[in-house]
Amino acid sequence: MPTMQKPSNTETKKAIRRYWDAHPISTDSVPHEPGTRESFEAIYAKWKETIDDRRMQFLADCRGKEVLEVGCGIGKDARFLTENGIDYTGLDYSFRTLQLAQKHLEFAGLRKRFVNGDATSLPFGDNRFGLVMSIGVLHHVPGTAEACREAMRVARPGGSVRIMFYNRHSYHYALVNYVVRPLIWLMLALPPLRALLRAGPEKLRQMFAVCKEDGFSRERVLAISADTSFAGQDNFIPHSGFYTEKEMRRLFDGMEEFRFFRGDLKYFPLTFLRKFAEARWGFFLTMTARKPDQEKAKSSETTDKHR
Ligand SMILES: C[S@@+](CC[C@H](N)C(=O)[O-])C[C@H]1O[C@@H](n2cnc3c(N)ncnc32)[C@H](O)[C@@H]1O
Repeated sequence: MPTMQKPSNTETKKAIRRYWDAHPISTDSVPHEPGTRESFEAIYAKWKETIDDRRMQFLADCRGKEVLEVGCGIGKDARFLTENGIDYTGLDYSFRTLQLAQKHLEFAGLRKRFVNGDATSLPFGDNRFGLVMSIGVLHHVPGTAEACREAMRVARPGGSVRIMFYNRHSYHYALVNYVVRPLIWLMLALPPLRALLRAGPEKLRQMFAVCKEDGFSRERVLAISADTSFAGQDNFIPHSGFYTEKEMRRLFDGMEEFRFFRGDLKYFPLTFLRKFAEARWGFFLTMTARKPDQEKAKSSETTDKHR
């Protein structure tokens, strides 16, 4: 096997933009041409089914604040927040995704404010937004720590951040890392076992096909497992990180009033334990935290100096 050189951050970033330009989030999940009214309406209708008390509470938290979404995708949250009167700005790195987001809000007859940019160097001044949200984005960015610092920088003192990462202490991670990955290894080593693929889900067949061509490092297998688009040649998210609550606290060091919740549990066999398991080992780990007030930050700086 040829030795593979680790790609540089710049190469990974280019690959990431190529990936999202080719596969704007959610567009694969409905049977309509991306960018058409039917496609947006079907995606939004599906997404709206997930609105629960927690999201309504989030909407209430956004009221009266200037909200920035980092990695806004095709504008599902943008539409929901804007149609509910929130002062919203969306940013995304992918040009095509951003064009779709613009079109989406145009079709919905809503005001649109979108910016192209990179989460690791946000094109905004310090202390600008009352709430900075980023859902399923910063773990795909090489330079996650930088991107977290940027989110904190542009949040106002007293404002908050809401971030969703993939959860390393999740059922998904355990299933993929300790069951699926060894299974793929076995099927690569012992071809007769590949008959098992016929009985497994489509996702397993896709993962096996990619791993057979391209190798199966832990990162690769986990990244493919988290990919929501159709798999194929050159078609998997180039970078996906999985984080624990402790690591997220560290990435957002300096913030206060941390809150965490977990959601999304696929392929879990024990239906009667579903709710219990999802709250503990759900795939999505969402964090909210508050940026300390300036006065408080200043007084603790002064105390530190006098120590
Ligand atoms: C999994 S999607 C999530 C989109 C949206 N938050 C949602 O929930 O539908 C990740 C998004 O992050 C964007 N993205 C990837 N890298 C980025 C970066 N460095 N800066 C800003 N956005 C980025 C992608 O273009 C894509 O739209």
